[in-house]
Amino acid sequence: MSYAHVPVMLPEVGKYLHPRPGSFFLDCTLGGAGYTIALAKAVGSTGRVLAIDLDATAIKNATQKLKANNLDNVILVQDNFKNLSTIVSENLPAEQKFDGIVMDLGLSSAQLSDPERGFSFQGERPLDMAFGPLSAKSTEEIVNHYSLPDLTKIFREYGEEKEAYRIAKAIVNYRRTKRLKTTTDLVTIIEAVVPPRFYTKIHPATRIFQALRMATNGELDNLTTVLPAALELLKPQGRLVVVSFHSGEDRIVKNFFRTAALEEQLIILTKKPLIPTEAETQVNPRARSAKLRAAIKL
Ligand SMILES: C[S@@+](CC[C@H](N)C(=O)[O-])C[C@H]1O[C@@H](n2cnc3c(N)ncnc32)[C@H](O)[C@@H]1O
Repeated sequence: MSYAHVPVMLPEVGKYLHPRPGSFFLDCTLGGAGYTIALAKAVGSTGRVLAIDLDATAIKNATQKLKANNLDNVILVQDNFKNLSTIVSENLPAEQKFDGIVMDLGLSSAQLSDPERGFSFQGERPLDMAFGPLSAKSTEEIVNHYSLPDLTKIFREYGEEKEAYRIAKAIVNYRRTKRLKTTTDLVTIIEAVVPPRFYTKIHPATRIFQALRMATNGELDNLTTVLPAALELLKPQGRLVVVSFHSGEDRIVKNFFRTAALEEQLIILTKKPLIPTEAETQVNPRARSAKLRAAIKL
């Protein structure tokens, strides 16, 4: 199978996680297994990596890649990382703690380009932006049944879309006569509200799709739930690295780190978030909005 995803800020993630032979790591967002494989190689046969993803495709791809790399020190789990403590207790000996935990939030390039799913506004696809079967909501349900205020809130808060109300209103008007079924239905409505001459650098559907994806998967709630669980699961001196792509996510990480630092539970290693080098964004434009924050447990 081909699962295309270029890992973002891999050298920086490696630098902050600092994996050593025999150590234990947790990758909360397996994706294309870029981080997981690098970690598995670094910790060697005496170490372990536990890697989680909601998406069955990511698990299948990683199973093949690990085999091809002769790596048998990785445990793969298909679940939502918000269930972190349970996942760890079900898959590792009681009281297992980690030398490092990493999260690389959002979606992978493979998910974005999957024609069976509706993450991209290019081409006609089903209105399905769920990372996996355990995602919070159905995208089709959200666009066809959420109230005008709720849709507006999602577009404004997750998409930072200025035309949130007008786009939400157009969706509500459309569904009075017809159900929205595909991404094309949605894009057509958005384009009617924000015509091409008003486009900024990005197509307005970009922000609406991002907002719907975040609502479908409950992404900010998942992050808020997983951070304290991750801190709890770190060994003293263990490292926590989070790569985010959305200002709301970065705010949650920043505030969590600040509070934990004030409570003397961790030391922040990145005063300001690290961003990718220009060289990286040139070869991988997807890395553009990445922000990396790292901390070490006291
Ligand atoms: C940006 S990709 C990770 C890429 C990975 N670091 C690599 O090097 O290939 C994010 C992955 O996290 C998964 N994901 C997002 N939210 C999740 C959640 N709450 N629980 C489990 N997996 C999640 C997505 O399905 C996606 O595969």
